[in-house]
Amino acid sequence: MEEVKPATPPGSRSAIWVSGVSKTYRTSGGGEVEALKSVTFAVAEGEFVSIVGRSGCGKSTLLKIISGLLPPSGGDVEVFGDAVDSPLGSIGFAFQNPLLMPWRNVLQNVLLPAELVHKSPDEYRQRALELMSRAGLSGFEGMRPKELSGGMQQRVAIARALLLDPKILLMDEPFGSLDELTREEMSGELLRLIQAIRKTVIFITHSVPEAVLLSDRVVVLSPRPATVSLDLKIDLPRPRSMAARNDPRYEDYCRAIRESLGLLKPPTGPDAAQ
Ligand SMILES: Nc1ncnc2c1ncn2[C@@H]1O[C@H](COP(=O)(O)OP(=O)(O)OP(=O)(O)O)[C@@H](O)[C@H]1O
Ligand SMILES: [Mg+2]
Repeated sequence: MEEVKPATPPGSRSAIWVSGVSKTYRTSGGGEVEALKSVTFAVAEGEFVSIVGRSGCGKSTLLKIISGLLPPSGGDVEVFGDAVDSPLGSIGFAFQNPLLMPWRNVLQNVLLPAELVHKSPDEYRQRALELMSRAGLSGFEGMRPKELSGGMQQRVAIARALLLDPKILLMDEPFGSLDELTREEMSGELLRLIQAIRKTVIFITHSVPEAVLLSDRVVVLSPRPATVSLDLKIDLPRPRSMAARNDPRYEDYCRAIRESLGLLKPPTGPDAAQ
């Protein structure tokens, strides 16, 4: 199993370069919380990288820093060779909860990013309808978010994140609030969507199988303050479908990630040495 070497330096074809990033929050009580400590990794153009780690380890913090929404306390982030110090149009972000506007219909929600960059929604209407069709939302354009299921709302949020055709898509546990069956269905749909649109993706998830199924690489973060404890290449063939779970390497990858998360003890005893 191939463990990826530390991140490649800028100048190579990294879409995202995270170098020695740390973050310490000041809390309202006057204390400090060290969330990230010297996190370093790179994401190549077109790569799908999942980030897994225990709850509270700093995953959302890391994604917000990469998106330019939050400044790091130390270290650097570059996107296509440019330092990130404010939100970028080249990045689409789907948050931990869908954050849809309840008073707008679904199509108007998908069109929101156009307004944020002062473009006419009419210009993006066709693209919004196409994205919604790809996401299985045709026929629901005029409905309010509350008339949709949780899984459908997440698909609206992903379609919205793709509206401006960003080169990079950041997704923070988009399926975190869904039941297991819907979640599995959504993983399959995301797999098809991502393979069709070929974006550079960072995807945060709590689910080890989901990370292995979807990713070219999985980065495991240690408990807080988060550092990279494993950067694992997932060498399963693409295009990939749910059948990838039958590949014998699939279980090996899952096991390596669970071990790195401290969920499994590495094998010991006489058998382990063989
Ligand atoms: N605005 C903030 N002010 C102070 N502390 C914060 C702030 N945001 C996050 N933290 C702290 O930073 C740490 C990391 O939080 P973060 O949301 O990045 O974790 P996470 O890995 O995304 O967790 P989860 O898996 O539960 O979503 C936590 O201890 C959290 O309490
Ligand atoms: Mg989070």
